[in-house]
Amino acid sequence: MRAMSASSRRAPRSVFVCASCGAEHRKWMGQCPDCGAWNTITEQVETAAAGPAARAGLAPAAPASPITEIDAAAAPRRPCGLEELDRVLGGGFVPGSAVLMGGDPGIGKSTLLLQAARHLASQGPILYVTGEESAQQVRLRGERIGAAHEQLLIAASNELEAILSAIEEHRPQAVVIDSIQTTVTSRLTSAPGTVAQVRDCAAALIQSAKQRGHALVLVGHVTKDGAIAGPRVLEHMVDAVLYFEGDRGHAHRILRAVKNRFGPAGEIGVFEMTDRGLMGVRDASRVFLAERAEDVPGSVILACMEGTRPLLVEVQALVAPTVYATPKRAATGLDGGRVSMLTAVLERRVGVPLGQQDVYVNVVGGARILEPAADLAVMLAILSAWREKPMPADMAVFGEVGLTGEVRPVGQPEARAREAANLGFAQLLLPRGNAARVRKADIAATLAANSAASVRVHAARNLAEAAQTGLA
Ligand code: TYD
Ligand code: MG
Repeated sequence: MRAMSASSRRAPRSVFVCASCGAEHRKWMGQCPDCGAWNTITEQVETAAAGPAARAGLAPAAPASPITEIDAAAAPRRPCGLEELDRVLGGGFVPGSAVLMGGDPGIGKSTLLLQAARHLASQGPILYVTGEESAQQVRLRGERIGAAHEQLLIAASNELEAILSAIEEHRPQAVVIDSIQTTVTSRLTSAPGTVAQVRDCAAALIQSAKQRGHALVLVGHVTKDGAIAGPRVLEHMVDAVLYFEGDRGHAHRILRAVKNRFGPAGEIGVFEMTDRGLMGVRDASRVFLAERAEDVPGSVILACMEGTRPLLVEVQALVAPTVYATPKRAATGLDGGRVSMLTAVLERRVGVPLGQQDVYVNVVGGARILEPAADLAVMLAILSAWREKPMPADMAVFGEVGLTGEVRPVGQPEARAREAANLGFAQLLLPRGNAARVRKADIAATLAANSAASVRVHAARNLAEAAQTGLA
């Protein structure tokens, strides 16, 4: 215990913290002036010794050196052996860095991290701290997925101070905290999972990771609206944020890097939940197209990019007469606002009378596609559903559509075209502005044996041209 000086023995300080945005206020208020949320402000009592002022005096001067003399190779990566996870991380865990893994309960966060910890354990001790399950439960799960290893240390604890001591004692190469919301510090009186607890515990754990040089993974639960429960500030504190997405009813899960200081953001990994844990899926496009019905109206194959990875998904649309005063536009796996806009473009520029029709658009298989390159596929799906005319079964589509109905070029057309051709699609419908690049890449020449023998490239300048080609 640190001896307290006379000045730090003053009365505990009270701060009022907003549970939604993490802002601190000096008095209680019904509405947070920073984020506008109601009834989110709670009181927290801080002991004086731990305040920022007390910490500041203890720190030695931070060393600074010229950028040219900094050894960039000093941060080697530690691949965990799960290829999909390593790729999302940008090549593996970086020592001294902190990763936040978010996702709904039951999606597979603990399973994936136990698998990763098992692989990492063959290179040195790994500390897996569980605050939600008992050590026995983790052991049972570990046996099921083959994660038994003598250097994989399990600690069932939710006390920050005890966890930090365990880190000092075992000097692990990586630490997993499952979860940050169950971790509490005795320094604060507030309940587990509150902003102050989550933030202070995370800060202490991140600091210890930076000082000791181990990789840190924090597991965080996600609320319904998609944010990590507790403070958003957590996302700013860590080096990488990974979200585990997917439908618990489906076996497939998508791990997405929404932030990554050490690699590309937007990268995804695809996994399948089996009875022996999560298995990486290399051939993701095949999975997303597995249950595709050919020759039905309203179905279009989209060649999209998820990070650096091309992915083929099926976009489906349904158009039905409305029973509401305002017709419904609903989108699953797509940006709803964008779908409404594209529907309006279809009405105004192509003259499709959708004013009395409900429009539903869905990406099959639980993927979430937010890039504008999906526009053309979405519009053709709606058009195909409206005209009750199927698209050619061997045609894949990509392209952005503007408000005047023009089809605009998108990034990485070659990668999209190659993935489509590799899966046997013989026709590509794409923006005129991308056609030259795709033709020049001579996709067919670079393909594997079982893919399309030749690829026909249809270039479209606007929506009308695209519709003529795809829905003639
Ligand atoms: P879990 O990793 O506990 O999810 P989280 O930590 O995100 O809450 O995953 C729990 C689910 O995964 C549970 O419904 C059972 C299932 N599961 C399998 O299907 N196979 C397995 O090998 C394991 C370990 C879990
Ligand atoms: Mg869990």
